Amino acid sequence: MQMRQLNETGWAKTYLIYDDDSQKSALIDPVFDHVESYLGIINEMGLTLQMCIATHTHADHITGCFTIANQTGCDYVMWHSTPSLGVTKYVDAETKLYLGDEEIGFCHVPGHTEDSMLVITSKQVFTGDFLFTGQGGVGRDDLPSGRVRDHWDSLQVMQKFSKNLLVCTGHEAPGVEMQSLEWNYQNNPVLQMTDFEDYQRWQNDTTAQLGYVSKIKVALPANLFGEIPDEIPWL
Ligand SMILES: [Fe+2]
Repeated sequence: MQMRQLNETGWAKTYLIYDDDSQKSALIDPVFDHVESYLGIINEMGLTLQMCIATHTHADHITGCFTIANQTGCDYVMWHSTPSLGVTKYVDAETKLYLGDEEIGFCHVPGHTEDSMLVITSKQVFTGDFLFTGQGGVGRDDLPSGRVRDHWDSLQVMQKFSKNLLVCTGHEAPGVEMQSLEWNYQNNPVLQMTDFEDYQRWQNDTTAQLGYVSKIKVALPANLFGEIPDEIPWL
């Protein structure tokens, strides 16, 4: 599976995945603010968009998924237990979706949110806010439906995947390069922890530093109801 990260600014990452032979593609975690730019790139590359996938219900930006699904007729894909409206295809651990011959699988990893999932291809694992690169650790567990203990339990699942997979995360500081799962086992402090209490302390310290999520009051209801608000303060 071919992959390209599309966001040039900001901390949120959006991935375009595509199959070279069939020219079929999918967007993972598109941000509403950049929808026109994504569709322009897909068009320029001569790709057909089959689906938009949200790794979880985001609290920090409005997803582009339901807007793109409405505009293009592609599927909006999420984990089956999501509370978000507007989803057209619910997936579980048995689901396989395809771009040509390239397979896409899914794995439930609740914790950051209850509906968090991994998106798995032949070369990459897309982790959303379940796992970040190196010192980034993992996403916070103190937002709606977040559970520290569930996140800790979910982290064990990473051991079953090939260490060669590229870990493509939902957020990184500008300039951070994506690394393999092997690299992350050596450099991510959370993946090196063996005690839940250490993890709980790490979460408490990290969320205290992060503070309030600035866009949550607009972004979270928009994503849950699948509706763009009349006024978006940051656009
Ligand atoms: Fe998130």
